[in-house]
Amino acid sequence: MNQKHHIVFFTGAGISQESGIETFRDTNGLWHNHKVEDIASKDGFEKNPQVVLDFYNQRREVVEKAQPNLAHNLIASLEDRYKVSVITQNVDDLHERAGSSNVMHLHGELNKCRSSKNSHLIYPYTGSLKVGDLAEDGSQLRPHIVWFGEEVVEIEKAIEITQTADLFIIIGTSMVVQPAGSLLLSVPVDAQTVYIDLNPDVEDGINLLVLKEKATVGMKQLVEDYLPY
Ligand code: APR
Repeated sequence: MNQKHHIVFFTGAGISQESGIETFRDTNGLWHNHKVEDIASKDGFEKNPQVVLDFYNQRREVVEKAQPNLAHNLIASLEDRYKVSVITQNVDDLHERAGSSNVMHLHGELNKCRSSKNSHLIYPYTGSLKVGDLAEDGSQLRPHIVWFGEEVVEIEKAIEITQTADLFIIIGTSMVVQPAGSLLLSVPVDAQTVYIDLNPDVEDGINLLVLKEKATVGMKQLVEDYLPY
C-alpha cells in the first residue's frame, strides 16, 4: 500500500486499557454500585444529575492522568505513510494526544460538555461539573457524551469513511453496542480486515485476520509483519 491507500481504525475501550483506563465489559459494569447503563443515560441524569456528573468527573480525572500507549502511538505514526482515519467509541483523547489528526468520536468526548437543551452549544470540560453549572441558554451543563438510548449522530459519516477503507483495523472492542458494532458490515468486500483483541470471539475468515493479542502487541505485529514500508 502507499500514500494513496486508506487505513481505517475502529477502536474501543480495549485500546486504552493498557493506559490504565478500565473497559466496560471486562469489569463488573458497576460504578459505586450503580449500573453504568443507569448512569450513562438521560433518565439517570434527570433522576440523579450530580451522581452522573460525579461519574464523568471521576472518569475525566483518570483520563487526564493516563498517557497514550504504543498502540495509539503506532496508529499516529502511520500517518506519514498512509491516509489514516480513526473512528473510536472511546471518549478519551488518547488518540489525539498520540498525534492522530483525523479522529471521529462516535460516542462523544470527555473533554467537552454541552447545554442539556441544545446539543450544538458545546464547551471545553475542564475540572469538575456540578449541578448549577449552566450553559449560556440557562440549561444545566452535561457531558458531551452519547448516552444509552441517544442517537449516534456521526454514524452515517463513519459508514461513509469505512466504505472507502483499503484496510480496516478493529482494536479492543466487543462490538456489542450498536450501531457502532455493525461498522464491519460496511467494509468493502475487497478490503482486508484485521481484528486485534484480547478475547476475540470470531475466527479468521476471508479477508479477516484475527490477532488474539493486547492492543500494543497486536499493533506492533501488524506494523512489523503486515504493513509494507
Ligand atoms: N488489548 C486489546 N483488547 C483488549 C484489551 C487489551 N489490553 N483489554 C480488553 N480488551 C478487549 C476486550 O476483550 C473487549 O473485546 O476490549 C474489548 C472491550 O469491550 P467493551 O468493554 O465492551 O468496550 P467497547 O467495545 O469499547 O464498548 C463499546 O459500550 O459502554 C458502551 O459507549 C460505551 O463506547 C462504549 C461501547
